[in-house]
Amino acid sequence: MRDFLRRLPKAELHLHIEGSLEPELMFSLAERNGVSLPYASVEEVRTAYDFSDLQSFLDLYYQGMSVLRTAEDFHDLAMDYFRRARAEGVVHVEMHFDPQAHLARGVGLPVIMEGLNLARRHAERELSLSSALIMAFLRDRPAEEAMSVLETAAPYWEMLDAVGLDSAEQGNPPAKFIEVYERARRLGIPRVAHAGEEGPADYIREALDLLDVCRIDHGVRCLEDPALVSRLRDEGVVLTVCPLSNVRLKVVERLEDHPLPKLLDAGLRLTLNSDDPAYFGGGMLANFEACTDAFGWSKEVFIQLAGTAIEAAFISQERRLELRRQLAHAH
Ligand code: ADE
Ligand code: ZN
Repeated sequence: MRDFLRRLPKAELHLHIEGSLEPELMFSLAERNGVSLPYASVEEVRTAYDFSDLQSFLDLYYQGMSVLRTAEDFHDLAMDYFRRARAEGVVHVEMHFDPQAHLARGVGLPVIMEGLNLARRHAERELSLSSALIMAFLRDRPAEEAMSVLETAAPYWEMLDAVGLDSAEQGNPPAKFIEVYERARRLGIPRVAHAGEEGPADYIREALDLLDVCRIDHGVRCLEDPALVSRLRDEGVVLTVCPLSNVRLKVVERLEDHPLPKLLDAGLRLTLNSDDPAYFGGGMLANFEACTDAFGWSKEVFIQLAGTAIEAAFISQERRLELRRQLAHAH
């Protein structure tokens, strides 16, 4: 089973590239840039990653990314992740990035985009790994700021595969971002949003109705609303579920308690993802392996999940056909 899961061509639709920053790279970038860290060692960083909820994680996540200053840093961050992911059998990565978290530190969009795009080209050429770029808005910051980031990103609109919505969910409903998402829609940029991770099922409904998203990131709390579950199934809305993230952020106590089997039984379209692999105890393969341990799923279930990711990915039809072919040979 483990060999099968490694070989399975996995498309990752929900990854925060800043959340792929391993403590080793954090230390080397801190040294390169003369940034001081509140940790004495890599071990001390890992010990600090003991979260009680989403906010306790976000505090360390925003602190950790303070070492990212130059285009080279963003390139090294992404390339470091792409290499690890490829070794785990990942064939495509859709990465969220958080411009506002960098702009607040004086690091501009040209720096971020130069570094990430260079890494994407290297990954394509050297690893046969395709990727997509999702520019995320921080929902705990004012909507006006998000709108200003979207306008500032004009030179890059064509390079964005989607916009997304992340950070602290409770008290920051999708409705807050209606105008920003309407602007993205008119620009022809696809839309996704985190909803129903810590926030209520109503936020999932709002993201669909008010933000016109094509996928929901997380969405696990939809089960609290049976009418919403029926709608998600009927409309074929894809949820990008992050099992180890949900355990580490105490959305569920243990993976065995995770609603994944119920979501599958309800006929929903699901994908498995790592969210912030450096913070949550592993990447795509670790998430797939944890699910086989917790739920005892057959190969067919994993093939179905990997297939949904390929169908829902922001890729060309040509690349989709190629990944379908790879999946068909994965048994
Ligand atoms: N930013 C990075 N990871 C996140 C998550 N799991 N939820 C919300 N915002 C995030
Ligand atoms: Zn996320």
